[in-house]
Amino acid sequence: MNFGVMTAAYIGASALFIMALGGLSHQESARRGNIYGILGMGLAMAVTIIGAVTDNYSLLLLGLVPGGVIGYILAKRVEMTSMPELVAILHSLVGLAAVFVGFANALGHGVYESVVAQRIHDVETSLGIFIGAVTFTGSLVAYLKLSGKVSGNPLQLPGRHLINLAIVLVSLYLIVEFAAVGASEGMFYLTIITVLALLFGAHLVVAIGGADMPVVVSMLNSYSGWAAAAMGFMLGNDLLIVVGALVGSSGAILSYIMCRAMNRKFLNVILGGIGTKKKSAPKAGAVAEVQGEIVEVQSEEAAHMLESAKEVMIIPGYGMAVAQAQHTVFEITKKLREKGVNVRFGIHPVAGRMPGHMNVLLAEAKVPYDIVYEMDEINDDFPKIDVSVVIGANDIVNPAANEVEDSPIAGMPVLEPWKGKHTIVLKRGMSRGYAGVENPLFFKDNTRMLFGDAKQTVDALLKHLAA
Ligand code: TAP
Repeated sequence: MNFGVMTAAYIGASALFIMALGGLSHQESARRGNIYGILGMGLAMAVTIIGAVTDNYSLLLLGLVPGGVIGYILAKRVEMTSMPELVAILHSLVGLAAVFVGFANALGHGVYESVVAQRIHDVETSLGIFIGAVTFTGSLVAYLKLSGKVSGNPLQLPGRHLINLAIVLVSLYLIVEFAAVGASEGMFYLTIITVLALLFGAHLVVAIGGADMPVVVSMLNSYSGWAAAAMGFMLGNDLLIVVGALVGSSGAILSYIMCRAMNRKFLNVILGGIGTKKKSAPKAGAVAEVQGEIVEVQSEEAAHMLESAKEVMIIPGYGMAVAQAQHTVFEITKKLREKGVNVRFGIHPVAGRMPGHMNVLLAEAKVPYDIVYEMDEINDDFPKIDVSVVIGANDIVNPAANEVEDSPIAGMPVLEPWKGKHTIVLKRGMSRGYAGVENPLFFKDNTRMLFGDAKQTVDALLKHLAA
């Protein structure tokens, strides 16, 4: 294929990938973004197959056809709640591919214009293998934890930070040695680098608790992007470099956004709780500050409060996902809208246990996108809200984040329903949320607690609203 045509097609595919990322940033345009991504990948594969693979089509088909079929079946079968583990296992394949490409590249060492060019190429190869191997075992362990095949508890070896530091320093030394002797004599170094990186990836992720796994998956997503970019350098393929950099940087940005919304430090999460106290031991002040009484409400009275309101804000959280209450919540929304109540949803960026968890559940229940708002869009509206309904959420509506200086969640941005007229909280009892801290919202004068499993409670609310 003509070099100019290939370059133009690669630029077209890169543009489609950038448009895909742009589309995926909003619910309304997410479907379109996905289609751009599919078109970009289709174009990239077609051009690479026709233009770059000159022979060995049979070998290519041997990988392409089974890979495509397995991918199709997996994507068809996967439940929404199992998405993080599917993503993790797919990242591991990107890492493995980078390791294989690196070794193939080293074994088929070519002729270079100069010693400098050869050394740069060898550094690219060894770094690509290092990142790929870390991504491979890290993602594999993340998959095993997320799918419950191994315990989600963090396994923290004594001196683990020193072990990690030692692995990184020794690997860097070996990369320098490998580049100095070249690929023909350096396979021993490359093998040791690979083994160390495989151990490093697994060790890094076993030390992280199950609840922090979504951040880890997003970070591994970023690594898989850098591994792909490294492959692009090794193979001299510009498209792979661009796509790898897009995935690498967007994964890193997502990890940063998630950490900020959880008020965690990125290093703290990926190094398995460096310098933090255990969540089960919240600071005394966080609990001592709570004043007031718990006031219970029954579903009939709660339904009456809702139908008498003009403005209702529904705040879903992890408990709604556990109870699978989203479909009834939408039925309640329809009923209230029929009665002239303006119902909106307020979504916290880390409500639930994975990015976009609530948005996916609400989309599955067919809640219209135009009544679903992000926290930053809606937080100033609470003073105008008559009734906020908190369904199985806790940390994301905890005023201690703003009010209690020494709270473990101090500084975490939260939704502020207590600024409205009334709040009804649906949960089973008085247990704490993921962060393990007491929630003063439940003790406020204008809060009513509606106890019970979220599914049963919303069913009861719907029954009263329909009566
Ligand atoms: P949480 O703070 O975990 O609170 C969930 C509440 O739901 C619990 O207090 C629980 O109380 C209640 N609940 C559980 N099952 C229920 C059921 N069947 N029916 C009714 N209520 C039920 O959840 P959140 O407010 O969504 O906050 C998310 C937390 O997870 C944040 O701390 C966030 O940092 C963290 N996190 C999020 C992510 C992402 S990316 N989303 C990733 C890792 C960690 P009862 O037991 O009393 O019912």
